[in-house]
Amino acid sequence: MTAAVILISGRGSNMQALVEAGLPLDVKAVISNRPDAEGLAYAAGRGIATRVVDHKLFPNRDAYDSALAAEIDRFNPDIVLLAGFLRVLGPAFVEQFARRMLNIHPSLLPAFPGLDTHARALQAGVKIHGCTVHFVTAELDHGPIVIQAAVPVLAGDSAESLAARVLAEEHRIYPQALRWFCEGRLEFTGAGIVQVKTSAPPGAALIAPKD
Ligand code: GRF
Repeated sequence: MTAAVILISGRGSNMQALVEAGLPLDVKAVISNRPDAEGLAYAAGRGIATRVVDHKLFPNRDAYDSALAAEIDRFNPDIVLLAGFLRVLGPAFVEQFARRMLNIHPSLLPAFPGLDTHARALQAGVKIHGCTVHFVTAELDHGPIVIQAAVPVLAGDSAESLAARVLAEEHRIYPQALRWFCEGRLEFTGAGIVQVKTSAPPGAALIAPKD
C-alpha cells in the first residue's frame, strides 16, 4: 500500500476521485488550509483523519510551510497529493517532497499556469483545452508532466461549461497517474521529463473543431 496525504482547499472532488478509485492507497490524512473546505466533511465521513493548517494564522509563507510540512510528516506518507490546494508552496517545502508530490492543474500545461485557466483559454480562443497531472517543483505549475487529457472548446462555451468538461477528465487522469506512481511505473529521465512504463498503444489525435 502507498501511504498518502491529500491537501485540499475547497470542494475536494479530485480528492474524492482519488479515494474512490480503488487504488492500493492508504489515505492517512486530508489536510486543508481552510477550515471551511467542503471536502473535509467527505473525508471525515470516510473515516479519514482530517486536519486544518490555516494559512491565516501564520505570519509568513515560511512559517506556514514549516507547520504544514510538520503536520504531513506526522503521517509519514509516500506521496503528497495536491487536489485543489490553492496555496503556493515555497522551495524548501517543495524540495522536502521532491518526486513524491503530485498536483492536478486545469489546463494543458505549460499553457495557462496559475488561476482562471478556463476563462483565459476562452479569451485566447484555443480550440483544445484540458488538464495536467505533474510532479510539483518550485516553479508554479511547471513540474514534470505525468499525464494530460484534452477536451474540445465548443462554440458558446462559458468558463463554467468548459470547467465542467475539464473536471470530468481531471477525475479520470489523476487516479490514473497515481496508479502508475503506486505501481512504480513513473521514471524520471533527463531534465524534468517523466516517462510512463507502459505497453499500451498511443492514443489517437484529438482534432477540434471537426469538419
Ligand atoms: C480543480 O479544477 C483543480 O484542477 C483546480 O481546482 C479545482 C479544484 O476542484 N486546481 P476540487 O476541489 O478537486 O473539486
